[in-house]
Amino acid sequence: MAKLTVKDLNVRGKRVLVRVDYNVPMEEKDGQMVINDATRIHETLPTLEFLVNQGAKVILMAHLGRPKGQRDSSLSLRPVAAKLADMLGRPVAFVDDCSGDKVEKTAGLLQPGDILLLENVRYYNEEEANDPAFAEKLAKLADIYVNDAFGAAHRAHASTEGVARVIAKRGGQCAAGLLMERELKFLGDELENPAKPFVVILGGAKVSDKIKVIDRLLEKADAILIGGAMTYTFRLALGAKVGKSLVEPDKTDVAKLALEKAKARGVQFLLPSDNMVATPVKTDKLNKKGKPVIELTNPRVNSDVDIPDAEEGVDIGPATIKTYTDFIQKAKTILWNGPMGIFEDPRFAVGTFAVARAVVEATRKNEAKSIIGGGDSVKALNNSGLGDQVTFMSTGGGASLEFLEGRVLPGVAALADNS
Ligand code: 3PG
Ligand code: MG
Repeated sequence: MAKLTVKDLNVRGKRVLVRVDYNVPMEEKDGQMVINDATRIHETLPTLEFLVNQGAKVILMAHLGRPKGQRDSSLSLRPVAAKLADMLGRPVAFVDDCSGDKVEKTAGLLQPGDILLLENVRYYNEEEANDPAFAEKLAKLADIYVNDAFGAAHRAHASTEGVARVIAKRGGQCAAGLLMERELKFLGDELENPAKPFVVILGGAKVSDKIKVIDRLLEKADAILIGGAMTYTFRLALGAKVGKSLVEPDKTDVAKLALEKAKARGVQFLLPSDNMVATPVKTDKLNKKGKPVIELTNPRVNSDVDIPDAEEGVDIGPATIKTYTDFIQKAKTILWNGPMGIFEDPRFAVGTFAVARAVVEATRKNEAKSIIGGGDSVKALNNSGLGDQVTFMSTGGGASLEFLEGRVLPGVAALADNS
């Protein structure tokens, strides 16, 4: 059922508490925390501009990192307020707490069109515990609740779930923001009855992370193309040798079941026919955790399904790139989640970038709907400069996976239905 959205509300002069996902990658530079990727902030601008134009008093709340109930200055949202003000071209006030007298007073002074960002809600343990008293405190700040934090909607926390329950109980409205609405549309409705052929590309390290998504998509997809280290668990399940590749030996049973289900349903389930492999070598250097740095040496194409003992798979190979590109270019709907190899290393990024290009081309030439399921595949697309050339890129990581599994996200369930 469709959710109530900000467009259904009358927000003029009202205090609107908006949960956003500003959990953005940051880095310390010259003693300052600097935002590395502001996509998640950028994607909330339509909701914020809409609310401001409607004369709402906007109170933003968000989390950053996992401070576990402690104030941690490196996880303060203050730099986000500055960035947001820059992007919106209007002031964004910041208060260094998220509940209590000072916050209530500041919120009480807001004028229509003002924006206030509260400090990291995870400075309080009560947030992740979804503590009812804490949710009451947050709810005290506003008349209306809007959730635009799709990326955090799989968490049943006070700011994503509890507060909505409190506001709804006292007769206040709880609606989806415009980003939330788009996420639910593309990852949900659009994949319910996808235009065919529907091609799914799944990569990443672990079968265990993706098996439920695979299981669900086997009901809808015409073809599933597998890449990433997941490949080697499937290969192991089929009796091949995987050398030193990353594998989950205890997941070969679920891998086999997926292969059987694909066969029974007539879904083409493709594993790479060739791979890039490299030889891992321990060096004298130590990483941040004090463990020896492993260098990947002697990269080469391995066209055999078996990988020699000393080597590990690091990317899909050229023959696989060709096969996958052919499939992608015929697709009318494409869902992509997870890289094809260790794309952070340019030597092993070829497969992932080739898939990115094929997806973009299918979108342009074949008018395919291309939906990118968040996380590393979004990073890969952005790194290759192609991010704006697909139909939709999710801002969710874990949330998009859980949603694609068909699970009800607590942050979505807490919003009112549009009846
Ligand atoms: C994310 O970055 O995936 C979301 O913001 C959720 O963060 P969490 O995994 O720390 O709950
Ligand atoms: Mg996460």
